[in-house]
Amino acid sequence: MDFFNYKNGRLHAEGVALETIADEVGTPFYVYSTATLTRHFNVFADALRGMNALVCYAVKANSNQAVIRTLAALGAGADVVSGGELARALKAGIKPHKIVFSGVGKTEAEITAALNAGIKQLNVESEPELERISAIAQRLGLIAAVALRVNPDVDAGTHEKITTGRKENKFGIEWTRAHEVYKKAAALPGIKAQGLAIHIGSQLLDLQPFREAFVRAGDLVAMLRADGLSIETLDLGGGLGIPYGDEGETDAPNPESYAQVVRETVGNLGLELILEPGRMITGNSGLLVTRTEYVKEGATKTFLIVDAGMNDLIRPTLYNAFHNIIPVIEPEKGQEPVNVDIVGPICETGDTFAKNRKLAPVQAGDLLAVRTAGAYGAVQASTYNTRPLVAEVMVNGDHFAIVRERVEVEDIIALDRLPDWLAD
Ligand code: LLP
Repeated sequence: MDFFNYKNGRLHAEGVALETIADEVGTPFYVYSTATLTRHFNVFADALRGMNALVCYAVKANSNQAVIRTLAALGAGADVVSGGELARALKAGIKPHKIVFSGVGKTEAEITAALNAGIKQLNVESEPELERISAIAQRLGLIAAVALRVNPDVDAGTHEKITTGRKENKFGIEWTRAHEVYKKAAALPGIKAQGLAIHIGSQLLDLQPFREAFVRAGDLVAMLRADGLSIETLDLGGGLGIPYGDEGETDAPNPESYAQVVRETVGNLGLELILEPGRMITGNSGLLVTRTEYVKEGATKTFLIVDAGMNDLIRPTLYNAFHNIIPVIEPEKGQEPVNVDIVGPICETGDTFAKNRKLAPVQAGDLLAVRTAGAYGAVQASTYNTRPLVAEVMVNGDHFAIVRERVEVEDIIALDRLPDWLAD
């Protein structure tokens, strides 16, 4: 459920008409709804009631300071995967004891920053990383709290580019070796081995792979304990899928049934559970609003050429992702829909948001809203074709504010430097 609805024939984010924002901010822009963010976080957190659970929002989904701060105020922790995200989470007000650091390639500098900040735990993905953390912690005179990220070899059944829990994927420590490595971690100086972590993929629409992975993690916990090893935390990762409005799509599981799987598999192990939802919290909380520049009648089809491109939202071309696209002015009832391709201005055929989409007739100048763009939208944007990063706006009731300024072309060019031999 979200708070983007038509009122008097105009699409609103909560109490604010998107046309009003477009007039003031220009297009394209991302818009986030505070009420939707709040609702999603609370629904997820409430579903886990009765369990000792910490929700660490996966900052990678949307790392805008206003988004993180909104969630921090609701009690969220953060899952970060880079020094940059760590800095963002801390700056937005997430307390270090609620931050976990995941990722396969943590650098010396990142590990040092995490240890100095005193975060809750580093999720370790390999033995060389474990040794590096041990050395850095000793140098700093600190104890590094770590969890071992285990690769449970479970197929999440999601898009190949975002599946992470099969043994051929680069993530985690092979689960058959986890016992041995955990033992090693427990004995290493500067290390406190406190838990296990798993994350099998993103946009899962089936709960069964979660169940298999959680059972596997639970079995491992029992084995470690039988060996006298202490274990306090179990990080279950993120991955819960959401509806994108694709007609053929399987229904996304709701947080209640997801939480039930958690409860049944690992709810009674006396562990602190850590959850890392990203998409589930921010996905439906954001739209990308774009203006139609041209309606072009091609040889075989009609193209709506809009002012947003694949540099602003790369999901359709990178993952063949479906995003529902709707007009900002509600079409009159009874209008016959037409078949269109919705494309951006970039010089690549892949710069396509939708193919053969049925839409009420659109004119040049009309605004369109790309739905479910709050997760992995703005954060994956680039300046390809020297197209400035677009503005981000947050709505709260009847108010809105720019939460990231549109970048200017001059600012992009100003980052380049001419070497001596080319300077005037
Ligand atoms: N934890 C870890 C360790 C992760 O790698 C991820 C996502 C998450 C949590 C959050 O997963 P979520 O709840 O959002 O599914 N750019 C892709 C998705 C990449 C996901 C990467 N890892 C997309 O747009 O579909």
